[in-house]
Amino acid sequence: MPLAIRPARQDEAETIREIHMKAFGEEEGPSVSQLSVDLLADETAEPRLILVAEDAGEAVGCVIFTNVQIEGAESVAGSILAPLGVVPRWHGQGVGAALVQHGLDLLKSRGVDLVLVLGDPRYYSRFGFRAGHGIATPYDLPYPEAWMALEFTPGLLDRVAGVARCATMLSAPEHW
Ligand SMILES: CC(C)(COP(=O)(O)OP(=O)(O)OC[C@H]1O[C@@H](n2cnc3c(N)ncnc32)[C@H](O)[C@@H]1OP(=O)(O)O)[C@@H](O)C(=O)NCCC(=O)NCCS
Repeated sequence: MPLAIRPARQDEAETIREIHMKAFGEEEGPSVSQLSVDLLADETAEPRLILVAEDAGEAVGCVIFTNVQIEGAESVAGSILAPLGVVPRWHGQGVGAALVQHGLDLLKSRGVDLVLVLGDPRYYSRFGFRAGHGIATPYDLPYPEAWMALEFTPGLLDRVAGVARCATMLSAPEHW
């Protein structure tokens, strides 16, 4: 059966926790998997998009997109990708890319203007994310090249500037 990408169900908190636990390993797993579950219950994360990758009924990957407001540019509909996890046995088989691309396509169709991510530029640049925009992180980061944005409206990132305000659960300093 081919890989399926589908929206997460309301009752899947433990599945989502487990995916991120396995994906991020012993060191980061507890904190990232707790974040993924916390974002499910966080009303300030709305609008939110959670996708699960499934192979023959087994959940093997998950991506979460949650609401972002840009201070001073409140009319811009922003979203942030965090976290993204694929269970190790499935790494390097396109699961992560399928989750991200499916999510971006859905967000675009829902009227989102831009998507932010804090991650490895070597991974996220393939989807069109880029650093060097005017949206600031809520905290100072030592690695600004990891703070990337993707615009759905050409030229938008040249016009928008301000601090990104994320969902409450994602705003804790340990996630930055
Ligand atoms: C990062 C992750 C989601 C990628 O998922 P995946 O299904 O293995 O990725 P894909 O199969 O779609 O893509 C594989 C490509 O990504 C690259 N890649 C994988 N992890 C990467 C990373 N952490 N940084 C940079 N590149 C990475 C691979 O080298 C490969 O490159 P290629 O296409 O040029 O050969 C997965 O490895 C994972 O869950 N890692 C642990 C958790 C994590 O780091 N999440 C990302 C947080 S920003």
